[in-house]
Amino acid sequence: MNPFLYRGKKLYCESVALDDITNKVGTPAYVYSKNGIADNFVKIDHAFEGIPHRICYAFKANSAPHILRLLAELGAGADVVSGGELQLALENGFSPKKIVFAGVGKTDPEIELAIEKDILAINVESRQELKIVAEIAARMNKVAPIAIRINPDIDIEGHPYLTTGKQANKFGIGLEEAIAGFQWAAQQKSLRIVGVHNHLGSMITKSLPYTKSAETLANLVLDLKRQGIHLEHIDLGGGIGVDYHRVLADDGDPFTVDPRVIAEQTLPVLKKTGCEILMEPGRAIVGPNGALLSTVLYRKVTKGKTFIIVDAAMNDLLRPSLYGAYHAILPVSKSGKGVEEIVDVVGPVCESGDFLAQNRELMPLDRGDLVAVMTAGAYGYTLASNYNTRPRPVEVWVDEEHFEVIRERETLFKDMSCRG
Ligand code: LLP
Repeated sequence: MNPFLYRGKKLYCESVALDDITNKVGTPAYVYSKNGIADNFVKIDHAFEGIPHRICYAFKANSAPHILRLLAELGAGADVVSGGELQLALENGFSPKKIVFAGVGKTDPEIELAIEKDILAINVESRQELKIVAEIAARMNKVAPIAIRINPDIDIEGHPYLTTGKQANKFGIGLEEAIAGFQWAAQQKSLRIVGVHNHLGSMITKSLPYTKSAETLANLVLDLKRQGIHLEHIDLGGGIGVDYHRVLADDGDPFTVDPRVIAEQTLPVLKKTGCEILMEPGRAIVGPNGALLSTVLYRKVTKGKTFIIVDAAMNDLLRPSLYGAYHAILPVSKSGKGVEEIVDVVGPVCESGDFLAQNRELMPLDRGDLVAVMTAGAYGYTLASNYNTRPRPVEVWVDEEHFEVIRERETLFKDMSCRG
């Protein structure tokens, strides 16, 4: 279910009219549905109830502390990819034993922090990293819990930037080298092997890649077991996609691949291993539960094009510029006047790549109108920047008929260090 819906002419999130929010906090503003986020987490969690499992939320999708605390309370684990995210997890209610730490370029202080806090697993991404983790742990007189991230060379047939499990990608370790890595790690006093990991990529639309990866990882676990190396968990990574065209409550389920189908098709093989199963969804939990609200500043008609210039830009929501991603754009208040027209919705940033939509058929929009850029809950705020010295937007969440600012709009001098 999607939390956004029209009541009469007005667009709502849960039971709050979006213009009530912008009247109070202005634009650009990110708005999230607290209950939608909780629901999506619970849906994915329930899908795997047939096996011991942990849903480790991928912080990179949206790391607003209120959202993190909500998910921690619901029992989520954390998938983090930097020392910053690791500290956020520790500060927002995630027990270290539920935190996994991936990334091809972990620094020594990041590794030290993970070892010191004794997290669930450092997902090691190269043979050299494995050696360094062992050395750092030995120096600290500690034992580091490690999983090896496999690169299984499985194609999700998606956007090249969002594909991470192909041989050509920088992530993980090829299967044969990983076996040698596990054998080496098993000899090290400063390492404890806890699991195996892979993450194939993001915006996965079919269950087949998950089935293939479950088979690969399960076979590997069974093979290692025969060699006397026992793993406790298999981490299938994240990647469940959402349909960016299904944005309203009556449009149906937003997942592009049903987590229940993934579970149905992977559990038979996974169960043979006796391992706990980890999943790392990010987008599927928060994506459809967020929108970026923006005000139309100008309408500019040139020869052959109409530009709707709004106050949100690529620095606020990078996805259209970076991936050519589609985000639906809806009027916050339907005027019912005029006929739809083809426009580009662009921001104030000084780049021609700064657009939120191109050649989009939209209802007539003019100065002062409010629009909602939909499905912006994932990789929206987390990819935002201060480019063009633009403060990052305010973030608000809605809980039924209430709303609350969960992060203030940035200010030039307090947050952006603009005073020398
Ligand atoms: N686990 C690992 C190790 C990851 O690298 C990622 C995402 C996830 C889990 C979560 O994937 P998800 O369930 O959200 O698909 N900025 C891009 C997405 C990049 C994803 C990077 N890694 C976008 O806006 O589409």
